[in-house]
Amino acid sequence: MYKIMVTGCNGQLGRAIKQVYENEADTEILGTDVPDLDITDLNAVRAYVKENAPNAIVNCAAATNVDGCEKDTDLAYKINAIGPRNLAIAANENDIPLVHISTDYVFPGDGNRPYIEFDETAPKSAYGRTKLAGERFVQQFSKRWYIVRTAWLYGEGKNFVRTMLSLAEKNDTIGVVDDQVGNPTSALELARAIKALLPTDQYGIYHGTCEGICSWADFTEEIFRLKGVSTKVEHISSEEYKRRFPASADRPAYSALDNYMFRLNLDYRFADWKDALKEYLA
Ligand SMILES: NC(=O)c1ccc[n+]([C@@H]2O[C@H](COP(=O)([O-])OP(=O)(O)OC[C@H]3O[C@@H](n4cnc5c(N)ncnc54)[C@H](OP(=O)(O)O)[C@@H]3O)[C@@H](O)[C@H]2O)c1
Repeated sequence: MYKIMVTGCNGQLGRAIKQVYENEADTEILGTDVPDLDITDLNAVRAYVKENAPNAIVNCAAATNVDGCEKDTDLAYKINAIGPRNLAIAANENDIPLVHISTDYVFPGDGNRPYIEFDETAPKSAYGRTKLAGERFVQQFSKRWYIVRTAWLYGEGKNFVRTMLSLAEKNDTIGVVDDQVGNPTSALELARAIKALLPTDQYGIYHGTCEGICSWADFTEEIFRLKGVSTKVEHISSEEYKRRFPASADRPAYSALDNYMFRLNLDYRFADWKDALKEYLA
């Protein structure tokens, strides 16, 4: 039996990973999450790995609230940097591969073409800085690592798609930012790619997002179109959004990722974002 330890298994991606392996008779998912296993506790992580002897670790645990990371940066560094470091140490001690998930927010977002894996990082937010620190720890403390940077993720749990649909129930018009662009990515589609990547031993950094680029406003319009919702989307600037919600963290304007390594190295393609959204909403 091939055993995969999945941390943060109750989150969006964690649930999707469980789903893509549910019919695999020769694979067992060892799902962990807080409070049972806190990845910031090195001894607990080591003890878990020793006792359960997984063949691989997929780290889906993270502090993902971008504004929350700005407010409690200590906690964000613990979960997004020290947590993956602990998993990297345990993976290395047991000579097993570690798949670690990172983010488009490690980039500054001032480019004009999708970022590839070889572009320079320069995060603008606490979330991005803590996630970049996590990436570096994974590279420093383990040998058999895959880092998969994803973006604008939605799956089972609280996410942008659900927030927009719930706002639409109470509003005739909603203001959505149209000067930040990226790649809306279905957690299920990302989980499928991780399942394809894990057995390859082709370690390294990968960008893993659904194909196609849009703004948050375009994304919202497509959600409403597919669900037959009549609420209008008012296209607003990030500046206007900041005026309405002053506490929000700065986000990159252009954070689209190019899945260059998935294409170049594995000849693997993700679904188009509109097709993946349709599958999700169905
Ligand atoms: N969501 C996005 O738009 C997005 C975009 C780019 C990259 N990513 C990355 O994709 C990955 C998966 O994101 P997601 O959206 O699936 O996240 P999520 O839904 O927020 O799930 C994260 C899970 O990790 C758990 N967790 C938090 N602290 C933990 C700790 N100390 N020990 C163990 N588990 C802990 C959370 O529990 P609680 O809920 O109880 O805190 C939650 O169940 C993350 O690495 C994230 O940074 C996400």
